[in-house]
Amino acid sequence: MTKKILLSGIQPSGKPHIGNYFGAMKQFVDLQDQYESYVFIADYHALHSLRNAKEMRENIIGVMLDYLAIGLDPEKVTIFKQSDVSEHTELCWIFDTITTMPYLMRAHAFKDAEAKNKEIDVGTFNYPVLMAADILLYSPDIVPVGQDQQQHVEIARDIALKFNNTYGDTFKIPEHKIIKNVAVVPGVDGRKMSKSYKNTIPLFADYEEIKKCVMSIVTDSSGELPINVYSIHKLFRDEKELEKIYEEKKGKYKELKELLLEDIEKFIAPLRERRKEFEKDKSKVLEILKKGAEKAKNISSKKMDLVRERIGVKLD
Ligand code: AMP
Ligand code: TRP
Repeated sequence: MTKKILLSGIQPSGKPHIGNYFGAMKQFVDLQDQYESYVFIADYHALHSLRNAKEMRENIIGVMLDYLAIGLDPEKVTIFKQSDVSEHTELCWIFDTITTMPYLMRAHAFKDAEAKNKEIDVGTFNYPVLMAADILLYSPDIVPVGQDQQQHVEIARDIALKFNNTYGDTFKIPEHKIIKNVAVVPGVDGRKMSKSYKNTIPLFADYEEIKKCVMSIVTDSSGELPINVYSIHKLFRDEKELEKIYEEKKGKYKELKELLLEDIEKFIAPLRERRKEFEKDKSKVLEILKKGAEKAKNISSKKMDLVRERIGVKLD
């Protein structure tokens, strides 16, 4: 029986945090045996926020080490970077010609940028179309992501339908896969954990860094459940156990934070060690990326051939 297909990616825009891990990355690992998986690094997407070549290079290698350290197995999963497979940007252009501006103007990311009165570049505006190309080239059944990406997957579905209606059946319609209780992991200030809010707990933080983050979690002083501490804690310990502990230690915020610190450290320490091991052999990491790109190219170039045929630019 052939396996169903999974595709997802993350941007190399900074250090991943526990929101990225529980919201998305953990799913890639948990599902790698069950699905034929494609997991990539969205480096062209990151260009809209990162314009420094040295940092870009470091972050790309960084995401690769993160993927390996959390347990993605390159023997099972095709791991690659977007910029190595030119079909992504090529298909993006074709999708541009069937996507309207008013439609893209309804996207959250655009509306947020507009609300902040930012000078929005065309790449940011077009971000969901490139993401649609990333997804549809590989005919995935599921796209595991956090809640903030749901709309982008819906846009990919709409674009696939529009293309299929215009040119004939070409793309499989994908489903997003969002795990309910980790769809939006909160940060130390209670808002969504996000690199841009500077409220994260980095996934590979050292003990002192975790301590600083945990101690800075905002608590209210009403003596009830310190919800920001609890919401993060429940990622690391069974909720039944936690309810008891938080009842016993009602109002003792410092002790609760110390326990959370120990629980996070217990979880992160082995990941940190694994990452250090992979870090020793950068050439192996580059080799995995190269092999991944070859496999991804093989799939995506076949799909592009079909697309060229459908739109009428393929003559032989
Ligand atoms: P990004 O860092 O924006 O490339 O996000 C990578 C993945 O992590 C995407 O699937 C996001 O939806 C997911 N993600 C980011 N922040 C959170 C969060 N606070 N809670 C849950 N998932 C998240
Ligand atoms: N936009 C996603 C994010 O910020 C990253 C991404 C790019 C992606 N292309 C994708 C995720 C395709 C899933 C599928 O997290």
